[in-house]
Amino acid sequence: MPRSFEPEIVGFLCNWCSYAGADLAGVSRISYPANLKVIRVMCSGRVDPVMVLEAFLNQADGVLVLGCHLGECHYISGNYQAERKIKMTRKLLQKIGINPNRLHLDWISAAEGERFAKLAEWFTSQVRKLGPLGSSEELKENELKERLVAARQTVENEKVRWMVGKERELMEMGNVYGERVSQNLLDFLMDKNLFDEFVKNRIYLLLEKRALSVKDIARKLGLSPREVLRRIAKMEDRGLIAMTDVEGWSPRYKALKLSE
Ligand code: FES
Repeated sequence: MPRSFEPEIVGFLCNWCSYAGADLAGVSRISYPANLKVIRVMCSGRVDPVMVLEAFLNQADGVLVLGCHLGECHYISGNYQAERKIKMTRKLLQKIGINPNRLHLDWISAAEGERFAKLAEWFTSQVRKLGPLGSSEELKENELKERLVAARQTVENEKVRWMVGKERELMEMGNVYGERVSQNLLDFLMDKNLFDEFVKNRIYLLLEKRALSVKDIARKLGLSPREVLRRIAKMEDRGLIAMTDVEGWSPRYKALKLSE
């Protein structure tokens, strides 16, 4: 990493508390790192995981999400939603080989100008230590981009979004049969969904570029041919991909254009 590396950090700050806290730091002349580019949002709960992944795709080395303290959200439960969304996004980053410490969620009130500056300083130094996005992860630019694109598609998936949105309700009120679902079970299901969806998206993106056999895909993604074959069969059934030709003894597949 070059010695002069200065990270690009995107900060999503909720209008009612954290942005006011940052403003207070400014009027109180408390300095904070210029690395942080602030984007004002109405509530931390409005920070969609897609926005976080877009920030990483657009050269951010770290993303900071700040909201009102729990129990103080202007929209009552927005920061609880933010907690679940960011937890899921950190989990996904970890799964795709990106250090989850590049994404941080915290709470800052309108009166905490000094705390805001300290937090911005701490997060900047943490990301500075990690280096440019992809460096501590040892990912080449193309590989990094492909993983982030597949991750963005993953968080757009309806099932993943439904699970994030329903997590609290399922734990506190239960499912349609009134059975409460444990945190462990929800975490397990979320892990599985995230991984399945991410791998499916990676396969699709590879097959959009050119026709490949199961063995080729398995080699590129570091998976077993058996695992890939199972997914290929499902994707073929769903009309996402089709067999194009046979190379030697191996059928090759290509992505089909999806209608909008
Ligand atoms: S308004 Fe600040 S977190 Fe919701």
